[in-house]
Amino acid sequence: MADASTQDAIALLKADHRTVEDLFERFEAATGAGKKQALAEQICRELTIHAKIEEDIFYPACAGAVDEDLLKEARVEHDGAKVLIAEIEAGGPDDNFYDAKVKVLSEMIEHHVKEEEKRVEGMFSQARAAGLEMDSLGEKMAAEKKQLMAVYEKGGLPTPETATLQATTLR
Ligand SMILES: [Fe+2]
Ligand SMILES: [Fe+2]
Repeated sequence: MADASTQDAIALLKADHRTVEDLFERFEAATGAGKKQALAEQICRELTIHAKIEEDIFYPACAGAVDEDLLKEARVEHDGAKVLIAEIEAGGPDDNFYDAKVKVLSEMIEHHVKEEEKRVEGMFSQARAAGLEMDSLGEKMAAEKKQLMAVYEKGGLPTPETATLQATTLR
């Protein structure tokens, strides 16, 4: 039976991208501090889970199938975004740079999503062309996503892991 947990890998990741884009739009339109903080926290949670399932499951599966430089850049882009996620998590809507941090994060993500979704030379297109097992990857990512959501909803977000950064420590 088809349900959300049987989405193929690319459909799942693209749906996440759309969810986050919508949240960024809602943040931009929001006015009250409480509303803004709730949306920013939701953005941080969605992005943290999305980055983790890509890093744990999708990107490793792309090794050898997708241009290596593109994969490396994607990892560094994730880690760059995590710096801002950690900042937003530690701050609040009254901070001087809070809105600016959310805005810059949205711009970084917009660029990153383009690199993943670009036709032909984008990461997803290359992965599809190489014949990756999208159904089983989708299933694995849906399972990890579900598990992470439960953990983060209970205990909050962990400090992001930034494996590609050498001079910046977030913990
Ligand atoms: Fe993505
Ligand atoms: Fe990504």
